[in-house]
Amino acid sequence: MNYESTVKLLSRFGQEHLLRYYDELTDTERSELISQIKEIDFSILDSLKPENSHEHQRGAVSPLEAVTIDNITAKGDEYLNCGLSAIREGKVAAVLLAGGQGTRLGFDKAKGMFNIGVNRELYIFECLINNLMDVVKQSGTWIHFIIMTSRINNKETVEFLDKHNYFGYNKEYVHFFIQDMAPCVDLKGKILMESKSKIAMSPNGNGGWFSSLVDSGIFDMLKSQGVEWLNVFAVDNVLQRIADPMFVGAVISTGSDAGSKVVPKVAPEEKVGVMCLDDDKPSIIEYFELSDKMRNLRDDKGELVYKYGVILNYLFNMDCLVEINKNKLPIHISEKKIPHIDENGECIKPEKTNGYKFETLILDMIQMNKSCLPYEVIRSKEFAPVKNDTGADSVDTARELLIKNGVNI
Ligand code: UTP
Repeated sequence: MNYESTVKLLSRFGQEHLLRYYDELTDTERSELISQIKEIDFSILDSLKPENSHEHQRGAVSPLEAVTIDNITAKGDEYLNCGLSAIREGKVAAVLLAGGQGTRLGFDKAKGMFNIGVNRELYIFECLINNLMDVVKQSGTWIHFIIMTSRINNKETVEFLDKHNYFGYNKEYVHFFIQDMAPCVDLKGKILMESKSKIAMSPNGNGGWFSSLVDSGIFDMLKSQGVEWLNVFAVDNVLQRIADPMFVGAVISTGSDAGSKVVPKVAPEEKVGVMCLDDDKPSIIEYFELSDKMRNLRDDKGELVYKYGVILNYLFNMDCLVEINKNKLPIHISEKKIPHIDENGECIKPEKTNGYKFETLILDMIQMNKSCLPYEVIRSKEFAPVKNDTGADSVDTARELLIKNGVNI
């Protein structure tokens, strides 16, 4: 793409201002700016139009039964043997979503590099790898461990894990891929610039994982090696059980297309998405989407009807993912404080929200499966999210839970 065709492209979308400083740039900066513009998917801007509001149109919502801890205990051997066989046959791989910016934690590096230890160094990545190693030992099999990063944190993540020797994991089974970015816009939909030659971009949300995995070639590599199931999970839960044989066994032996680990909510107001049926399709309703009535609805035993919260630990069948990928995921728009340069080329660090970021979310992939098994886990053993510095779901609460689970921190 040359200067003239870039001007043409930008004028189609009302974004000519991206070339405002072109004359001041060096040749290298000019060609970098043009290649950034070339990569932008401008169709994302359509989601700002009121007629394309991403508000999810729900059908008839009803509760979705989970396999409870009691069910799991009763079927223990069956699930365990089925899951372990699949792992030993190399049918399961683990995908870590580590491309987020972790703004709430306020740590300036990749979240996995955060040291959660108190008396010793213990990094979040290390906790996760230790958990996965339990299954490697139990099954006697190395499991492909795939890490999604973003352009912002890829270099530091790769270098960090290499420097720490992958915390004992077999390097040949560790793979990285980088998720795509989306442009940030101001409140009027104009794309923001980070500098005179750089567009303000942010990772395109955790729903971007699958298309980027395919683009990286890793999906085909896994397929060619006979992998059938992907366990996809978040970086921030330090108690996350990965490639859990019982979970894998439960999903396979119930003939489900997918599975989602769930925990009973601690209170109706807890800010987690809940699993439900939406017109007979498995679905996740975000906490802010739940009406007061649904949030507080209780059954005869006094239990919340919509009680199973998701913890971002899913098992997907790879063939079903190929089908899912034929659909477009809805785009979620969130208001954020976005650093940028103004009309005078001055850097602005806004105090208030000044624009929008665009994201797709992995939870929207659930409703594209024919079935998804909610699989209950013991909260105190498997859910210790590190979202905030202090308070709920914080470094403090995660440390307490690590200690309770016998982890030396
Ligand atoms: P969160 O929704 O907690 O987002 O991510 P975040 O960016 O990490 O944190 P905040 O909201 O800025 O504080 C849930 C999971 O999805 C991953 C995160 O790394 C985490 O594992 N994620 C999120 C991505 O991999 N890419 C993204 O673009 C967003």
